[in-house]
Amino acid sequence: NVLILDFGSQYTQLIARRVRELNIFCEIFPYNNPPKDLSSYKAVILSGSPFSVRAEDAPHPDLSEIRGKKPLLAVCYGAQYLAHFSGGEVAPSNIREYGRANLSYIKENEVFLEGVSAGSQVWMSHSDTIKALPTGAVRLASTKDVENAAYKIEGETTYAIQFHPEVYHSTDGKQMLENFLVKIAEVPQTFTPNAFVEEIVAEMKEKIGNDKVVLGLSGGVDSTVAAVLLNKAIGENLYCIFVNNGLLRKNEFQSVLDQYKGMGLNVKGVDASKRFYDALAGLDDPEAKRKAIGNAFIEVFDDEAHQLTDVKFLGQGTIYPDVIESVSATGGPSATIKSHHNVGGLPDFMKLKIVEPLRMLFKDEVRRVGATLGIDPELLGRHPFPGPGLAIRILGDITPEKVAILQEVDAIFINGLKEHGLYDKVWQAGAILLPVNSVGVMGDERTYEKVVALRAVESTDGMTADWVHLPYDFLMKTSNEIINKVKGVNRVVYDISSKPPATIEWE
Ligand code: XMP
Repeated sequence: NVLILDFGSQYTQLIARRVRELNIFCEIFPYNNPPKDLSSYKAVILSGSPFSVRAEDAPHPDLSEIRGKKPLLAVCYGAQYLAHFSGGEVAPSNIREYGRANLSYIKENEVFLEGVSAGSQVWMSHSDTIKALPTGAVRLASTKDVENAAYKIEGETTYAIQFHPEVYHSTDGKQMLENFLVKIAEVPQTFTPNAFVEEIVAEMKEKIGNDKVVLGLSGGVDSTVAAVLLNKAIGENLYCIFVNNGLLRKNEFQSVLDQYKGMGLNVKGVDASKRFYDALAGLDDPEAKRKAIGNAFIEVFDDEAHQLTDVKFLGQGTIYPDVIESVSATGGPSATIKSHHNVGGLPDFMKLKIVEPLRMLFKDEVRRVGATLGIDPELLGRHPFPGPGLAIRILGDITPEKVAILQEVDAIFINGLKEHGLYDKVWQAGAILLPVNSVGVMGDERTYEKVVALRAVESTDGMTADWVHLPYDFLMKTSNEIINKVKGVNRVVYDISSKPPATIEWE
């Protein structure tokens, strides 16, 4: 187990992912709220930070329990802070050092640099520089502009690098992480999907015992993998609920429900479409729609959970990025369900204890665990789909008729992507029903019908996204098919906005 102390760099999660790619488990903690007991950690990594070590409010934690006592790798700000903390000197640099650089000097016969080639490209992002190394330090590498690009402290397993080993553009970054973690710190590489499954199933068994768990399935990857893991741990004591909010893709409710049953899950399908449509009637403000859907879901789930007796736990598909976010936001391990739903008292299911089998995994790890569990690759490769469903892709008020139109359009688009081998090249895709009519001509008739927009984006986490350059030929065929087959639509447009400044969904 490796500890990553986060000083607030945008790359901290990336360090964790690189470490895990080496089959080594690691956890991120905010620098000001580290774990109380360090004994289980075999190595520590200090992250980068937007701060300058010279700033008064910059992170200045006491490293005396770590430095010299555990193998330590300090990255970017971490390297500067380690120098600052240990008697070196950090000063503003004359040139701002951002982006590509190459290692012009590499010290020979260093385990840390094994396999790193001369001239290796590294990625810099800092405006301070380490002017003087700390006492006992030896320079390991330099670039043209950065003399102290890497150093170690003699007699310790303490290493520091000014550049970011975790980013793709640092060509040998992963090699250095491996040298540090495997060869120097001797951390065992045992964190594989199989090992995870075994461990988490045992942990859940122990935690839940003979009690019952209720879990809401969404058709998405996270809740599905969480359910399969819990099912492996407690079998029939897991009660899954899959709600049809009437805002899912065409045929999705039935086909996913069948799939869940085929996987041996104890699942109840609840068709609550009418309740959702009633709650949405007449609402056209995006936030009002989201709130209505959220509240309707809580009501439906609460009703269902009430029909079960003696349930002690609520299962959730929370994954690691959400955990990190809430831990940093609150400065401490977070309460899992927040009280901001407490209008009129908490629904009963929110008083349940929480089990989150995926809370330590990144999305790509969830997929790999899912594959180990034998879950259908098609389900695991699904595009993300928002909780409020098609309601936030129908601009303006929602009616069952509009949902039906959009479901048809969406199905043609998504099936087309699959048929043309484009589905897996796109991170997320869908269609949007616009609240405008436009004039068209079909045969000799004038039409005055709806416009739909198609959206397909590439992204890694949904935080930023760019539109995909789908082939014109594909767009042409899709547009033709939609206008010919879907009654009520006479125009198709393609969304060419990136996020930011637009967002992926239109509402
Ligand atoms: P935006 O529109 O904010 O979307 O760029 C980013 C990603 O989040 C999804 N999304 C949601 N997912 N509940 C969800 O579960 C929501 O309310 C919600 N709103 C947006 C969106 O589909 C995209 O993947």
